Amino acid sequence: MEKITSCSEMQQQARQWQSEQKRVGFVPTMGALHEGHLSLVKESLAHNETTVVSIFVNPAQFGPGEDFESYPRTLENDLAMLDQLGVDLLFLPSQDDFYQDGFSTYIEPPVVANRFEGTLRKDHFRGVTTVVLKLFMLTLPTNVYFGQKDFQQCAVLSTMIDDLALPVQFHRMPIVREEDGLAMSSRNRYLSESDREKARAISAALFSAQAAFENGEKEGCILRKIATDYLQKHGIHEIDYLTIVDPRSLTEVETIVTDVVLLVAARIGTTRLLDNILLTE
Ligand code: PAF
Repeated sequence: MEKITSCSEMQQQARQWQSEQKRVGFVPTMGALHEGHLSLVKESLAHNETTVVSIFVNPAQFGPGEDFESYPRTLENDLAMLDQLGVDLLFLPSQDDFYQDGFSTYIEPPVVANRFEGTLRKDHFRGVTTVVLKLFMLTLPTNVYFGQKDFQQCAVLSTMIDDLALPVQFHRMPIVREEDGLAMSSRNRYLSESDREKARAISAALFSAQAAFENGEKEGCILRKIATDYLQKHGIHEIDYLTIVDPRSLTEVETIVTDVVLLVAARIGTTRLLDNILLTE
């Protein structure tokens, strides 16, 4: 696997691929890779001639007091996993090169960013849209792959791609779960043993609402109550939001007549966990 750390070299390589009309798949990550990331990489490898993965812990998407400094960095392990899968190129920009002195251009995210994570993590999505657009400009991909676990991030980025007519094809890939249902996340490693045990209730709460939906319950307030009661019964009381929304606009839905997504964010100890499930006919 080739490695590039310089932004200009990355762009030069991408231009070369472009001149050869190569189909390039791109998976942006912040490292601390797990099976969820690997599922995106595998999808890219299966559908593109060249696959690029980036690892960059992007300071612009972390707020003051968030976990930028302590975010897990497991480069050696990440390299081994990507190499084994057959990734063509790993892009590892340095912070100083990516955000050179005087960097001051940011992408204003679309309105779908102005709720849920966007209200709880000020400027988070502005950091995400900025880094992702710049990564696209450096890697010039044909196909880009993101995980559904960060459902709002997917909505924000696919809207940005549409609004700005970016010439990339967006792919939202299904959540990969641990055996007990917990959605895979780099932040799961922050959980203590007892918190990890508790965390399984998050996906179980979603599945209990899904079961009720599949049995005919279409009222959002009832489905929300089923999931909330489940969380509370299992000792999860710090629920940032638990909501049923339209998958594109993320506006709340009361009576379900078409596909929706049930989104949840909850805190267990000091760790914030996100999960979601599509409720489809
Ligand atoms: O989902 C992530 O890991 C990050 O938000 C991303 C898309 C790599 C941008 O830094």
